[in-house]
Amino acid sequence: MSKKILLRLKEFEKVFNTEIKEAKEESSLEALRIKYLGRKSFISKVLKNISKLPKAKRPLVGNLANRIKNNITNALEEQKRLLERLKEDRLHEIRDFTLPGVRSEIGHIHPTTKTIKEILEIFSNMGFGVVDSPEIETEYYNFQALNIPKEHPSRETFHTFYLEEGNFLLRSQTSTCQIRVMEKEKPPIKVIHPGKVYRPDAVDASHSFLFHQIEGFLVDEGVNFGHLKATLARFCAEFFGPKTQMRFRPHYFPFTEPSAEVDISCYICKGKGCRVCSFKGWLEILGCGIVHPNVFKSVKYDPQRYTGFAFGMGVERIAMLKYGIDDIRLFYENDVRFLRQF
Ligand code: DAH
Repeated sequence: MSKKILLRLKEFEKVFNTEIKEAKEESSLEALRIKYLGRKSFISKVLKNISKLPKAKRPLVGNLANRIKNNITNALEEQKRLLERLKEDRLHEIRDFTLPGVRSEIGHIHPTTKTIKEILEIFSNMGFGVVDSPEIETEYYNFQALNIPKEHPSRETFHTFYLEEGNFLLRSQTSTCQIRVMEKEKPPIKVIHPGKVYRPDAVDASHSFLFHQIEGFLVDEGVNFGHLKATLARFCAEFFGPKTQMRFRPHYFPFTEPSAEVDISCYICKGKGCRVCSFKGWLEILGCGIVHPNVFKSVKYDPQRYTGFAFGMGVERIAMLKYGIDDIRLFYENDVRFLRQF
């Protein structure tokens, strides 16, 4: 009987010794104390019932039980001191006022967003409302309704990401918003729409599969090319500076007729010719024109009654020209050395 108690006492101590190593909190130490030394613990029961053992066995069991009790008490105290020391060390670490402070980085607006905001503000001041439009579109809104039928060769210039599900695609131009807005509203319409567009182009210094465009358009009775010219001249003067020269170059877009590309005089060489403008003295900034009657027909507007102008520009391209940035990839890489400059 007493032999069994001796064995159990030894086992009891062994289990305690492994458990105490796991105790990393004061609360777990207290739980151990209750479990191993409390009134209901095995050791307390042994000591309480020692008188029930045969007299000859009592010293052996009593000595061992008391020794284990002392060991456990000491081990608990030592572990407690250790935990306190660790806590203090940690406090010292935190309270080392000689350490350099941690400066929290305050972000700021990304150059793309900044450029969009600047452009929107200029057009808002001219009375343009800002609208939104979906990035996932159908062929109808991206092409057909904009006078670009399936077999139209110009469709190849708008390389497109087609989605596997349904007839959807990632829009390749923000001109889609023209149809979206005109379907909902009646003229007069005078809106601008900033947004993302997607084209499966190989990424290089001037191409990205995702970039931003700003589309503007105005529809009313009696709108002519002069209105378009005045609007864009005001924009160029405000965005690029009052001395900037502007020119219209005839071009082709399916959704405008006549169509043009707008160039500004090169901000580096002031029109004399340099590397940035490929020695032309001019930099292309946007496409524009008078809304094609077929576009009006798509939304059941009467082309005899209404006329309008539209324009579209690439945001990153405009920002590159304004700030002299030579690689479009910088806008997407999140390198703070680049971003901090704006
Ligand atoms: N959507 C054209 C493009 O992505 C840009 C453009 C050209 C927009 C002429 C227009 C426009 O509104 O009239 O290349």
